[in-house]
Amino acid sequence: MRVDVVSIFPAYLEPLGLSLLGRAQRLGLLEVHVHDLRGWTEDRHRTVDDTPAGGGAGMVMLPEPWGRALDAVRRGEGPEGPVGSAVPARAEDGAADDDPVLVVPSPSGRRLDQRLVRELAGEPRLVVACGRYEGVDERVLVDAAARYRVLPLSLGDYVLNGGEVAALAVVEAVGRLLPGVVGNPTSLVEESHEDGLLENPAYTRPPVWRGQAVPDVLLSGHHGEVARWRRQEGLRRTARRRPDLLNALVAADPSALDAAE
Ligand code: ADE
Repeated sequence: MRVDVVSIFPAYLEPLGLSLLGRAQRLGLLEVHVHDLRGWTEDRHRTVDDTPAGGGAGMVMLPEPWGRALDAVRRGEGPEGPVGSAVPARAEDGAADDDPVLVVPSPSGRRLDQRLVRELAGEPRLVVACGRYEGVDERVLVDAAARYRVLPLSLGDYVLNGGEVAALAVVEAVGRLLPGVVGNPTSLVEESHEDGLLENPAYTRPPVWRGQAVPDVLLSGHHGEVARWRRQEGLRRTARRRPDLLNALVAADPSALDAAE
């Protein structure tokens, strides 16, 4: 998968070079390019924002640098020209299915969840457009829809200063699902949200720590009992912390919890 991120704070994205995602890039499993939006400005001050039409607080990002940036990145170019592996040109017949997904972080976007993460992990190309301030001029998104599948995306119902933290979250959540990125793929199946539930509590050595014992069943060696305990504890935790998830699971499949009895 190739990911391009456009931001006025490229340094914000440096952690993408660390840990599992850094290793994934070195192994060629994931290609990440971070671009400075100011590279597509044409004035002396490298201006990227202006006051909102109609008045009000804050600043809105200008359409011109974003338009140039998204045109170039679509072609696989940064401000200085081509970068990374070649990208397919847009099909003559305008087959929109082949267009890259343009992720636009915004508190007014679709909420990111593991289902969407899985969908995005099946894409060959993602472009993330990190806005700041009060957002990006709306015409940029309308215009971009001619060569991207535009996906306004929210991390949750709260407001961040800009899209960079969301870009980190998306690339990490998606990147770890790419084949070969996580060493033991079964850990991807057994974790929170993969089956619509939160994961059970986890324990390791020592068997007793500060007066608290690891639950006996986990030390019993009975795999069936351990699996049953994990499922029950996952359910218990979900009911307590995220009853909304449990309700959604039962609404989608009324027999979803039958195996828990
Ligand atoms: N930018 C500002 N707030 C955001 C949020 N909640 N999710 C994604 N991007 C954002």
